[in-house]
Amino acid sequence: MKHRFSIWRYFLDGAPEYLARHYWWAYLWKPAIWFFDHQPIINCILFGQYQRLLDQTLKQLDGHLAGRLLQLTCVYGKLTPKLVKTRHNDALYIVDVCQEQLQASLRKLKPAEQDHLIATRMNAENLAFSNDSFSTVLIFFLMHELPARARKNVLLETLRVLTPGSRLLITEYGYLPDKHWIYRFAPLRQQLLFWEPFLDGFWREDLTEELQKAASHWNKKITLKQKKLVFNGFYRVVCYQVD
Ligand SMILES: C[S@@+](CC[C@H](N)C(=O)[O-])C[C@H]1O[C@@H](n2cnc3c(N)ncnc32)[C@H](O)[C@@H]1O
Repeated sequence: MKHRFSIWRYFLDGAPEYLARHYWWAYLWKPAIWFFDHQPIINCILFGQYQRLLDQTLKQLDGHLAGRLLQLTCVYGKLTPKLVKTRHNDALYIVDVCQEQLQASLRKLKPAEQDHLIATRMNAENLAFSNDSFSTVLIFFLMHELPARARKNVLLETLRVLTPGSRLLITEYGYLPDKHWIYRFAPLRQQLLFWEPFLDGFWREDLTEELQKAASHWNKKITLKQKKLVFNGFYRVVCYQVD
């Protein structure tokens, strides 16, 4: 069958179709990886809330840094270097389906720190780690970029690799922010949903309920331990215990 030329197909190369189709310009195209990884750009995308979100994420992780720590997919900004600095006798595991993203994460580290980052190309929907192999998993702004089916798969895999007694930390958009000025200002909401086509589905999903379903699949249970709303609930940082 003949396909019309579409630029995103060029970026498929092992990436999930949703990622190539909707986010090639943000994560898979080399100039974009350079462009977006600048603090003013990141801050602009997050409506000036980046530092608060980073601080809250690191604060909630504090005290849960012992044992194996997995960062589920690369992120722009300072998170990965900050996490690596906490891994004194240990390593931070990081996975991403895009090799250039993993290389960009490694480039942010000093040579001596690079030994403390185990970066592996992997699809988060199908992790090549054993069951119960991590004490902490951190997911920073990944969930809203996934279609519903992929979100379910990622949560299932996350709950599979988390050991009983472990922590899951998720930094994300909050629940449907229909009272927030950004949501109420239709042109802005439409722009946001144009660039983030799966955000509306994520907004309307009960994250805790989805996590409970994923946990019970593996005969585990999750308990919400901490929840911090940022920017009047437009964003959230949530920490769950897995048993
Ligand atoms: C964490 S998310 C969004 C990060 C956020 N916008 C930021 O930079 O702060 C972006 C990353 O997820 C990766 N990604 C998306 N879907 C994936 C999947 N199924 N498996 C592994 N990596 C994935 C992309 O390649 C990209 O590097």
